Amino acid sequence: MAGKETRVATPAVRVSGVSKRFRDGGTHIEALKPTSFTLQRGEFVAVIGPSGSGKSTLLTLLGGLQTPSAGSVEIAGADTSALSGRELVRLRREKIGFVLQAANLVPYLRVREQLELADRVCGRGFDRQRAEALADELNMREKMSAFPGDLSGGERQRAAIMRALYPRPALLLADEPTASLDSARAFSVVEILAQEAHRENVTVVMVTHDERMLPYCDRVLRIEDGVLSE
Ligand SMILES: Nc1ncnc2c1ncn2[C@@H]1O[C@H](COP(=O)(O)OP(=O)(O)OP(=O)(O)O)[C@@H](O)[C@H]1O
Ligand SMILES: [Mg+2]
Repeated sequence: MAGKETRVATPAVRVSGVSKRFRDGGTHIEALKPTSFTLQRGEFVAVIGPSGSGKSTLLTLLGGLQTPSAGSVEIAGADTSALSGRELVRLRREKIGFVLQAANLVPYLRVREQLELADRVCGRGFDRQRAEALADELNMREKMSAFPGDLSGGERQRAAIMRALYPRPALLLADEPTASLDSARAFSVVEILAQEAHRENVTVVMVTHDERMLPYCDRVLRIEDGVLSE
C-alpha cells in the first residue's frame, strides 16, 4: 500500500533562472531578464506587456523553439536543454500546441487536412468527433474544406487555434490569438481557451495586448523591458 505519502504533482512548466540575450550588431539585447516561475496543469495564464517587451521570446522559450541563454525550462518534468534535438521535436509534437503570431497554416492543405497532418505525424487516426466539436465551438464548420488562402484573417486564426487544440496538448502557447478578431469573436476564443484549460487540464499561456481578456485568466504575467512580474 502506498500509505499516506503526499505526492506533489510535477508542475506543467518550471522556469528556473531563465534569460534570453540576442546579439544586435556589437551590443546585446537582453530580451528576457532572469526569471523563475512554475505553471500548473489546467492554469490559464495571460502574458501582457508593451511591444518589444519580450512576450514572444518568453513563449518560444516555453515551447522549446529557442534555447535560453541561461537557466532551464522543464516541461512536464523534462529539462528541455537536456534533450536531444530529436527528443525535443517529439516533446513539442506530443505535448505542446502553438498558435503563433503569424498563423502559419500549411498553405496547400484544407483546414481538415491541417488537423489530419498532426495525426499522420503521430501515427493516429482522425478523431472526427474532436474535430467537429472544435469546428462548432470556433464557428468553423463551413470552412473545414477551405484552403488558408480562401479564409479571412480571423478564420485563419481560428483554424490555427483549432489545429493547436485538436491533438489535446498538455501545454498550449498562443501568441496574440485574438489579434485579428472583432471583440465578440475575441471573447469567444478566449472563453474556449479558458474552457480547454479548466475542462481538459491544459496549461494555456496566452500573450495578449487586450486587458479586457484578463478576467478570463487565472494568472497574469506582466513583462516590461524583459522584466517579468506577477
Ligand atoms: N531573433 C532575434 N534577434 C535579435 N533581437 C530579437 C530577436 N527576437 C526578438 N528580439 C528583440 O527582443 C526584444 C523582445 O522581442 P519580442 O518579440 O519578445 O517582443 P514582444 O513583446 O513579443 O513584442 P510584440 O508585442 O511587438 O510582439 C525586442 O527588442 C526584439 O527586437
Ligand atoms: Mg510578439
